[in-house]
Amino acid sequence: MGYKNLKVSIIGIGRVGLPLALFLENLGCKVVGIDKDSEILRDVRKKKMSFDEPGCAALLKKTKMTISPSIQSGVRGSDYIIITVGTPLYNHIESDLSYIKSVCTDLCGSLKGGQTIILRSTVAPGTTSYLKNFVEDNTSLKIGKNFGLAFCPERLAENQAIEELGLLPQIIGTEDNFSKNMTNKLFNLFGVELLFTNYLSAELIKLFNNVHRFTDFAVANQFSVIAEKYNQNIYEIINMANKNYPRGHIPSPGLTAGTCLRKDFGLLNESSSAPDLFLSAWKINEHMPFHLVNSAKKYTKIRGKTIAVLGYGFKKNSDDIRDSLVPKLLRYIEREVPKKVLLCEPNIPKKNIEGFKNTDLNSCLKKADIIFIAINHDAFNKETILGKIKKNAWCVDLWNVLGQKQLVLRYN
Ligand SMILES: NC(=O)c1ccc[n+]([C@@H]2O[C@H](COP(=O)([O-])OP(=O)(O)OC[C@H]3O[C@@H](n4cnc5c(N)ncnc54)[C@H](O)[C@@H]3O)[C@@H](O)[C@H]2O)c1
Repeated sequence: MGYKNLKVSIIGIGRVGLPLALFLENLGCKVVGIDKDSEILRDVRKKKMSFDEPGCAALLKKTKMTISPSIQSGVRGSDYIIITVGTPLYNHIESDLSYIKSVCTDLCGSLKGGQTIILRSTVAPGTTSYLKNFVEDNTSLKIGKNFGLAFCPERLAENQAIEELGLLPQIIGTEDNFSKNMTNKLFNLFGVELLFTNYLSAELIKLFNNVHRFTDFAVANQFSVIAEKYNQNIYEIINMANKNYPRGHIPSPGLTAGTCLRKDFGLLNESSSAPDLFLSAWKINEHMPFHLVNSAKKYTKIRGKTIAVLGYGFKKNSDDIRDSLVPKLLRYIEREVPKKVLLCEPNIPKKNIEGFKNTDLNSCLKKADIIFIAINHDAFNKETILGKIKKNAWCVDLWNVLGQKQLVLRYN
C-alpha cells in the first residue's frame, strides 16, 4: 500500500465529511464519498458546494473522487472507512444512535479483513466500544486481528475546515496495535501533531472541548443578565475585566447555539440524573432569546411594530442554520403580536428561509421600528447599519456589533 495511494471511503459527505474528503484527495488519497442523501450526491457530482466552506469550492472543481449512495459498494477495496454521519439528540437528553447503527449494519455485510474503521462523528461516551461489539458480533472479524478501529474526533470550526485540518492536533483513540499503526499511517499525511489515547478518553476530549466552550459562553450570558439586573453596562464590565489582565478571557455575551455545542452537552450529560453545571449552562444559553425580547419590552412595545431580525445562521458568517437560536427569538417576538417581522440573512442566498422572506439589510433598516441584531455577522456593522436606521428606531445589540455598549438603544 503506497503511502500516498491510500484508499479512503468517507460515509457522510456533509459539513465534516466533504471538506475531509477534499483535503484527503488533495494529499494524494483515492477517495470515495458515500452519502444516502441524493441531493448531496447530485451537488458533489455537479461540483457544486451545497454549503459555504472557504477553500472547498476550488478543491471540489478539480475532484476526481468517486461518489456512491451505497455503503456496501462504496467501501469495497478501501483501506480506511471514515464515519462522519450526524449524531443528533432525541427530543430528550438522549443521544440518537440510529445513524451510527444503520452505518454499522450496512458495514457488517461488506467489511473485509485488513480494513480500518475511523469513527469521526462526535459521539456519546461508549459509542466506539458499541461499534466494536456490534461489528465483532455480526461478522467473523476480530478487532486488532483482521480489522482496525479508532475514534478520531473532528475538532474544526465551520468556515475554517480546510485550514484547521492541516493545523489542529489530531486525537487518536485506539485500543490495539493494528488500529494504532493503521490510524497513525493515515493521519501522518496531515502533517499535524498526533495525540494517542484510548476510545473513552478520545470521546471525552471532544465533548469536553465543546462543552467547555458552551459553558464559557453561558457564563458570559449569565453575567450579562446579572449586569442588566443591576442596571450596569456588561460591555464595559467585560472590557475592563479582560483588559491587560492575564486571567481575564471572559467572552462576549451572545446567542450560543448550533448543532455541535447544544447537542454535545446532551451527549455528555445523558447518563447523569443530577442537575449540574452543564444543565445550568444549557438553560442560561437557551434563555437568551427570551431575555432579548424581555429587555426590549422594558423600553418599547413590540405589539403593532415592524421588527427586523438580522441573522439566522447559528453563528457569525455561517450559512448553517441547524440548532440556531434565531427561530426561537422569532417565535418570542411573534408572541408579542408585531405588525410585521422582517428577516435578513446575507449568508444564505435564498429568497425564503423557513417561512420568512429573506429581505436585504437596507430595506429592513428603512422599515423597522425595532431591530434585533441576532448574529454578529461581518455584514452587520457600524458602517452598514448606523445612519441607515429609521429615526427613533430601537436596536437590540447583544453582541455589541455597533460598539455602542448598550443592549437596547434608540437612534434619533
Ligand atoms: N459541523 C461541524 O462543524 C462539526 C465539527 C466537528 C464535529 N462535528 C460532528 O461531525 C458529525 C457530522 O456533522 P456534520 O455537520 O457534517 O453533519 P451533516 O448532517 O452535515 O453531514 C452528515 C451526512 O451524513 C449523511 N448520512 C447520514 N446517515 C448516513 C448513512 N447511513 N449512510 C450514508 N450517509 C449518511 C447525511 O446525509 C449527511 O449528508 C456530527 O457528529 C457532528 O457533531 C461537526
